[in-house]
Amino acid sequence: QQGSVDEFFNVVLQLTKKCGQLIKERTSSRTKKVETKSSAIDFVTETDQEVERLLIDGLSKAFPEHKFIGEESVSSGAQCELTDAPTWIIDPVDGTMNFVHSFPHSCISIALFVDKHPAIGIIYNPMMNQLFTAQKGKGAFLNGEKITVSGTKRLAEALIMMEFGTSRNAEQRSVILENQQKLMPQVHGLRALGSAALNMAMVACGAADAYFEFGIHIWDIAAGELIITEAGGAVIDPAGGQWTGFHVECLVLVRKN
Ligand code: IPD
Repeated sequence: QQGSVDEFFNVVLQLTKKCGQLIKERTSSRTKKVETKSSAIDFVTETDQEVERLLIDGLSKAFPEHKFIGEESVSSGAQCELTDAPTWIIDPVDGTMNFVHSFPHSCISIALFVDKHPAIGIIYNPMMNQLFTAQKGKGAFLNGEKITVSGTKRLAEALIMMEFGTSRNAEQRSVILENQQKLMPQVHGLRALGSAALNMAMVACGAADAYFEFGIHIWDIAAGELIITEAGGAVIDPAGGQWTGFHVECLVLVRKN
């Protein structure tokens, strides 16, 4: 493999900050070009596409042998295949619905996998100036300060992140509502930021205690997985299967003992 993880990290960090500026500049504009994808509430904007292109172009130029799995490229028909080759997994704007509404909680979520394992994770919300970073074995950071998960052990004391998802399917909606109803009386509170990556970032820095979602994609959680584990937390498949990040129906994050 050519280049070191530190070198990959420095390059991706500069690109992410540059693309973050673009998202920040455009977030308050009321004239975004919006198209729908899998449902009437699953959006893509020209900024999603442009940011993904800028990240892929910049990284390919620096590291021509690297591969990519990008949300918008996969939506347009690119293969979603993780091999042992260094592979960048990209959600250019996670929280696209928030971005469309100028609700300031969207982010770039980008991870590098090497030999199918996460080596780098970055989640950047430029509107709130929150830069979450991790490299395998080196800890997790928010704007350069080390972060850890909360350590909360009791559900009754937990603030839980969840999501409403982007499906209009009646059965899926009722499962989401049922889960909320079951959890609500048992926890301190439920929250949904509208971005899977930012929900995970909140758990990583101890602002929330757990997060779950059904029907998530690899690009929503690839960076968050490393940031969470480096912050002392865990990412698991609650159905009991081995966590691969790929064939996942739902997700829970809790602190390791
Ligand atoms: C979505 C957001 C949302 C989550 C969806 C994701 P996108 O990603 O993370 O919070 O509920 O499952 O698809 O479309 O904004 O990149």
